[in-house]
Amino acid sequence: MVYLNKKEGISKGSNICWKNILSSAIVAVFVTILCFGNLAMAQGKLKPVSEEEFKKGKDLYNKYCAACHGEEGNGYGPLSGALYPKPRDFTKGQYKIRSNPSGSLPTDADLIHVISVGIHGTSMIPWDILELDQIKSILPVLKSFSEAWQYREPEPSVVLGREMQATQNTIARGKVLYEQKECWKCHGETGHGDGPSSYDLEDEWAIPIQAYDFTREGKYKGGAANKDIYLRFTTGMNGTPMPSFANELSDEDRWCMVHFVKSLTKQKKDRHEE
Ligand code: HEC
Ligand code: HEC
Repeated sequence: MVYLNKKEGISKGSNICWKNILSSAIVAVFVTILCFGNLAMAQGKLKPVSEEEFKKGKDLYNKYCAACHGEEGNGYGPLSGALYPKPRDFTKGQYKIRSNPSGSLPTDADLIHVISVGIHGTSMIPWDILELDQIKSILPVLKSFSEAWQYREPEPSVVLGREMQATQNTIARGKVLYEQKECWKCHGETGHGDGPSSYDLEDEWAIPIQAYDFTREGKYKGGAANKDIYLRFTTGMNGTPMPSFANELSDEDRWCMVHFVKSLTKQKKDRHEE
């Protein structure tokens, strides 16, 4: 910022004396050297982090995360070849499990959450061996892998209205919406993840991806609480074909959708019980 202000000062100030110009230039050069010499220093929209703090995070990242996500954060760590789903490539700035609108970068709270609880059914385990401040120190490292963080800021989390009680009526309403909004095209009429569009889905990295099978109890990647399910179809899952329905459903309708989607698990249980 100092650099930019000084530069503006130079271009605007027609009657600034040479001494001022010279000292501005020296400051500009000095700040430039500082920035290039220390990439950990935040640029653009990133909050500044001391070199020491960045190194602490980088050491933790190399120790615990790089085996899968790669030292450069591109998802090509030594273990990645054997894994499906693939470890996230952080260079694209695409994150699935967020609380904010489609296309946004995740909030720090989103990142801390997903790192702490992991992603169910994948090799991304819950990192509960790490202290909160250790996880926090890794965030600037993740952000340093993608330019997206220099130009954009995470949007605020969406606001959830109060959930009403699940009843036969809310489930029936959810079923109508599931038809209308064509969730079935990917997730299937009975929620088994086998809809007509489900067979050739790919993610942003051209890797085949499956629509979630709602009949599997509690296996949600983003958590099985009603609030989690609400957020997934409200915010979409960046980098995957799972779209956002933020503009198409009222708050009440979204809770109805959650109740219906959850009822699909129960139906399977009922069938087993018969
Ligand atoms: C054994 C492999 C492995 C290790 C080690 C690992 N991850 Fe992951 N991580 C994954 C996989 C696989 C995914 C993607 C899962 C998916 O997209 O379904 C992932 C996804 C993520 C995501 C993206 C979440 C989102 O919302 O899209 C973040 C952030 C993340 N990992 C952070 C970390 C951090 C920080 C560490 C180290 C403390 C770490 N991971 C260690 C395998 C790993
Ligand atoms: C174009 C295909 C497509 C459509 C349409 C679609 N989904 Fe999805 N959905 C997906 C895919 C693919 C995933 C899995 C993403 C992943 O595993 O990373 C997913 C994941 C989800 C999840 C998260 C599951 C988890 O693991 O946490 C929920 C909830 C969900 N979808 C609900 C819905 C609802 C409700 C609708 C309709 C309003 C809908 N989806 C429409 C493709 C679709």
